[in-house]
Amino acid sequence: MKRILTYGTFDLLHYGHIRLLQRAKALGDYLIVALSTEEFNEQKGKKTYHNYETRKKMLEAIRYVDLVIPEENWEQKVNDVKKYEVDVVVMGSDWAGSDKFEYLRDYCDVVYLDRTEGISTTKIKEDLKLQTPVNGVDQIPTPKTYKKTLK
Ligand code: CTP
Repeated sequence: MKRILTYGTFDLLHYGHIRLLQRAKALGDYLIVALSTEEFNEQKGKKTYHNYETRKKMLEAIRYVDLVIPEENWEQKVNDVKKYEVDVVVMGSDWAGSDKFEYLRDYCDVVYLDRTEGISTTKIKEDLKLQTPVNGVDQIPTPKTYKKTLK
């Protein structure tokens, strides 16, 4: 059985996340997601909308995801790879070549998948902040590239 592992926050779940998880799972048979805890996000200066338990439940409801484990620090990755007998660590291309992942090549394969254009949790938060009510109705912008990807 080929085991895949990926890391992330997966806060406001969106189509870019689903595509990443779908392609990650397609690289093997069993997909593990290491999900950043609130404490770890705090260390990184990141604040999530959903708490850890909610984000975990949402990921567990996705058919590509077999197991969700906590990501608590930067240093745990080698342990994770050994403990879960991981064959491939997968990340989005925003992490390509990062020293946070490259050293894992001594223990498993490392694959970076292209990010989905035009969507991110940050962008959703920004877009919702920018919405202006017209005749009392909120106008929520929909990114054009995201619409295109959905077809
Ligand atoms: N990801 C992706 N395509 C996107 C957004 C995210 O492939 N459009 C991938 C990231 O590269 C990462 C995983 O999804 O491997 C989880 O990313 P995360 O940082 O949780 O999502 P973002 O939407 O990028 O969140 P933020 O804006 O808070 O950084």
